[in-house]
Amino acid sequence: MLFSTFFATALLSVSSLISSVAAQTPGACSGDCNVHDPALIRRTSDGKYFRFSTGNKITIATSSALAGPWTNQGSAITGGSSIALTGNDDLWAPDIQKVGDYYYLYYSVSTFGSQASAIGVARSTTMEVGSWTDLGSTGIASSSGSAYNAIDSNLILAGSTYYATFGSFWGDIYQVPMASTPTKTAGTSIQVAYNSSGSHAVEGSFTYYRSPYYYLFFSSGTCCGFDTSRPAQGAEYRINVCRSSSVTGPYVDATGKSCTAGGGTTVLASHDNVYGPGGQGIYPDTTQGGAVLYYHYVNTNIGYGDGQKLFGWNLLSWSTGWPVPT
Ligand SMILES: *[C@@H]1O[C@H](CO)[C@@H](O)[C@H](O)[C@H]1NC(C)=O
Repeated sequence: MLFSTFFATALLSVSSLISSVAAQTPGACSGDCNVHDPALIRRTSDGKYFRFSTGNKITIATSSALAGPWTNQGSAITGGSSIALTGNDDLWAPDIQKVGDYYYLYYSVSTFGSQASAIGVARSTTMEVGSWTDLGSTGIASSSGSAYNAIDSNLILAGSTYYATFGSFWGDIYQVPMASTPTKTAGTSIQVAYNSSGSHAVEGSFTYYRSPYYYLFFSSGTCCGFDTSRPAQGAEYRINVCRSSSVTGPYVDATGKSCTAGGGTTVLASHDNVYGPGGQGIYPDTTQGGAVLYYHYVNTNIGYGDGQKLFGWNLLSWSTGWPVPT
C-alpha cells in the first residue's frame, strides 16, 4: 500500500516536472516591468490595464496592453495607511477588485517576519493616482500568537458571499467571509492551506473560479533576497495550486492530497532563465483569450535582486482540469 502510494507520487512528480520544464517563457513586457506582488485589472470604462504592486505605498502602473508599454503613475495610498501599526507607510501585496461602482484595493501592513499585521482597504471609482480613499482595517489582523499572519489578501465572490483568503507562514492560508460591501469581515476564519514541513513557507494566495472548481493558487518557498542568500535548489518561490468544488474547501492537489496537509500541485517553478516565480494572480483577459496567470520572477541573465523582479504572465490551459501555463 505504502509502496504503491510511493510509486504513484513518484510518477506524478515526474509529470509535474515535465509540465514545469515545458512552461513557456513569460509573455512580453515593455516599459516599467520591475514589479513585486503584482495585482492586475482592466478599467471597465476604457479597458485600460492597471497594475498594482508592493512598494511606494502601492505602486500604480498603467498600460493600454498587457505586454506594455507599462508606465508607473505613482502611489495609491499616498498618505500611508490609517492602520496604527509599524509598516503603515510601507504597504505590501495588493489585491484589486471591482464591486459595484468601486475598485477596492486591499493592502497589507506589516514588517518582515512579524505577526503584527493587518489587511487594509482603499477604494476609488477611477483607480487614478490621487483618487483613493483609505478605509483602514478590514478587521483581518494578527499579532504574536495568532494562528496566521494577516497579509497577502485576495477577494472572491462565491455565490452571493465575498471571501477574503490571506496569510503567510505560521498557519499559512486562511479564509474569512466578508460583508456584502467587502470592506469588513463577516464571520470566522478557517484554514484552507497548510504545509507543516520546514518553515511553513506558503503565502500570496489567490482563489479563482473556473466551473466546476475553485482553484486556490499560492506561492511556496523563499520569496526574496536571492542576491544575498540563495535557497537550496527547489526551495525558492514557486506557484502551486489546489482545487475544491466548494469555495471553503476542502482543497486537494492533483494527487488528491489535502492542501491543509502539505498538498499542492506545481503550476510554475524556476525554469530556463526564469527563477523564483510567485506573488501571482489570475486575470480572465479577453484580449488573450482566457485566464492569464501573472506573477513576478527574476531573470537569471539580469540579476537576482528584489528590485530586479519582473512582471511575468502566461495564458493558462485547463485541458486536464488543472491550470498549465502555455
Ligand atoms: C512543503 O514544505 C516542504 C519543506 O519546505 C517542501 O519541501 C515541500 O515542497 C512543500 N510542499 C509544497 C506543496 O510546496
